[in-house]
Amino acid sequence: MIDIHCHILPGIDDGPETIDEAVEMCRMAHADGVKTIVATPHFNPGVYEPASAKVFGLAAELETRAKEKGIDIRILPGADVAVTPELPGHLKKEEYLTINSTGRYFLAEFPPASVPPKWDAFLLSLLSSGMVPIITHPERNAWFMEHPDALYSIVSRGVMVQITAMSITGAFGEDIQRYSIFLLQNNLVHVIATDAHSAAYRPPLLSEAVKMSSDMIGEDKAKALVTTIPVAIIEGKSVSLPEPVRPRGKKKGWLQKVFLH
Ligand SMILES: [Fe+2]
Repeated sequence: MIDIHCHILPGIDDGPETIDEAVEMCRMAHADGVKTIVATPHFNPGVYEPASAKVFGLAAELETRAKEKGIDIRILPGADVAVTPELPGHLKKEEYLTINSTGRYFLAEFPPASVPPKWDAFLLSLLSSGMVPIITHPERNAWFMEHPDALYSIVSRGVMVQITAMSITGAFGEDIQRYSIFLLQNNLVHVIATDAHSAAYRPPLLSEAVKMSSDMIGEDKAKALVTTIPVAIIEGKSVSLPEPVRPRGKKKGWLQKVFLH
């Protein structure tokens, strides 16, 4: 499996503080079946703005330290990029902001409870310039929970969606779990990632979420979300995605419609 969203570089954001904890996260991920991690520190101007050299250096150092401990894992550069008006300029300037520096796919993070004005036109303009935004964890964003129709609209235009493994397993509560399942069942998810921040509280584990997703959408579709689709993303290649299903009914209809196994 490949994890395209993981705060695993030490001392650079709100992820692990030490290289030892980062190596422990590598060990946990590898034991869980993850062989490639995209290290995605926050990029949020004025809050977190790591320099390219630091991200590349720490990713290489972590991979080396993990290998010294017998953990055969690949660490690629990337970033968890806050959606701000200045984003197009940053994406051109900082190589690591696209996943594995291919210049194509990037993680687009919104605030927890809202979206900026004209967010959809903004993402579509980036899409038409040849980049592919991957909206991170909309299942944990209060606005997207109220507007699955808006998510459908932008996905049908080619923007991608990543949801978080712990949302599927229920660690963020039942509403978020139900909405995650709803999105999975409507082909509105393209990637499951850990968004891990630590070894203890936000661990870098995928397998349980993939198993639960397999029960709901079938093994082939669930596995593609952590294998073939992320492979295309890290290689910067095109990938065919399932046709999204338009959500029906009233707002938050997903609360009633989704039944947990
Ligand atoms: Fe993140």
